[in-house]
Amino acid sequence: MKVLSVASEAVPLIKTGGLADVAGALPGALAEHDVEVRTLLPGYTSVMANLGKATRVHSYASLFGGKASVLKARAAGLDVFVLDAPHLFDRPGGPYGQPTGSDWPDNWKRFAAFGRVAADVAKGADKDFQPDVVHAHDWQAAMAPAYMRFDGTPVPSVVTVHNLAFQGHFSADIFPDLGLPPEALAMDGVEYYGGVGFLKAGLQYADAITTVSPTYAREIRTPAFGMGLDGLLNVRASSLQGILNGIDTSAWNPESDKHLASTFGVRSLKRRASNRKAVEQRFALDHDNDPVLCVISRLTWQKGIDVVVSEFDTIIASGAKLAVLGAGDHALEGALLAAAARHRGRAGVLIGYDEELAHLLQGGADAILVPSRFEPCGLTQLYGLRYGCVPIVARTGGLADTVIDANDAALAAGVATGFQFAADQGDAMLEAVRRAVSLYRDTRAWEAIQKQGMRADVSWHRSAARYGELYRALLSGDGGA
Ligand code: ADP
Ligand code: GLC
Repeated sequence: MKVLSVASEAVPLIKTGGLADVAGALPGALAEHDVEVRTLLPGYTSVMANLGKATRVHSYASLFGGKASVLKARAAGLDVFVLDAPHLFDRPGGPYGQPTGSDWPDNWKRFAAFGRVAADVAKGADKDFQPDVVHAHDWQAAMAPAYMRFDGTPVPSVVTVHNLAFQGHFSADIFPDLGLPPEALAMDGVEYYGGVGFLKAGLQYADAITTVSPTYAREIRTPAFGMGLDGLLNVRASSLQGILNGIDTSAWNPESDKHLASTFGVRSLKRRASNRKAVEQRFALDHDNDPVLCVISRLTWQKGIDVVVSEFDTIIASGAKLAVLGAGDHALEGALLAAAARHRGRAGVLIGYDEELAHLLQGGADAILVPSRFEPCGLTQLYGLRYGCVPIVARTGGLADTVIDANDAALAAGVATGFQFAADQGDAMLEAVRRAVSLYRDTRAWEAIQKQGMRADVSWHRSAARYGELYRALLSGDGGA
């Protein structure tokens, strides 16, 4: 079976967050289930530079205002189609924003073109790769099912929601340029609160909808988490399911990770000590027996980083040291730096995006704090489990589904893998941190919890099978969910 995966980022070619990890790792895992995936990516400057040898499979004299073509290549371990459209994607800055940080004003055009091209591939633009299913990720890809529907292309589609907070909501003024028939601008079409909603369109037209954890699949059907789309998601409930993310267990393997000072495994946990020392050096922390808590995150409200700022002094007072790696809201960056300056030797904050340091932190810090207000799945707690970096997480979305709280029953049964607390509550977070610090003082109990996490199956194995089943159900004409 052939699947066209449509994603605006995929490791190792381009990454701003977890979507890239998922889009980069899932194809390899699906290969074991006889699913051949080819990923359509935008031809950003950096993607084009790393493409290597490519063949042109389709051309456009004009695609949303400029010449474009679809290239086919094997790049960095992925089979890709790349939308080479310099007028849309060959620019400085990030995939979605200008170097200044604000969104590209023509994002609607860039990602409408992306969806249009996905629909053309579904229609047979490359005669050697006729997809049986189109799998679109997030709003940037979500126009694909809308175009497919109005083209009358008989290929089933799946939309996966990685984060409902990003919806691709634009003014209705763009509608005439989308190339859709007038009737598409309706409540049961692409119309959304008087404008055009790209994610909304995908949720409306896709044959199946998935999101990245079972708990988030339930949460987004409520007004508190639905971000305006809970009504539609309830209407489509029979086509909606949560499939938990896995991780790439070869890119994230403590036994072979090149970014660690010392590799280690479940039977050689002692060797973590040199990574811990390296972390303490990088973050200018005291070398002592107090636990190092790390945060590796986009610095935003979603991630609850303001709660960390509010509780910074009390976390340090609990006996933990803090190492924070992140970038995002400037106000949060400044507040974290100011807090760290109050606690020399006890806290270090590095602002920026540093993939190698993220690996070292997972392999050297004692625990990872993930205090998100909502979290569709979350990957850093999964990396933490695999690296013996015990997760302390808010009980929401995928965080709730992947970490077993060290309550008395779980400790007695030997199944605990971390700590959970009620989301968006500073005092609850602090209480979980205190429980972690206290368990850390009991070396045997701590090692038991680390080992339990390291043995947990966080690979794509089970979830890739579920995607495979979903694709097959859609092909056989069954809704899938
Ligand atoms: P989200 O996609 O919402 O940001 P996830 O937990 O799914 O959250 O994925 C975040 C990914 O980005 C992880 O791979 C994490 O290691 C990485 N990451 C986040 N911030 C940084 C940073 N400052 N430096 C390096 N990696 C980071
Ligand atoms: C989004 C979510 C995150 C999830 C990732 C990959 O960025 O915020 O929770 O892990 O997508 O699915």
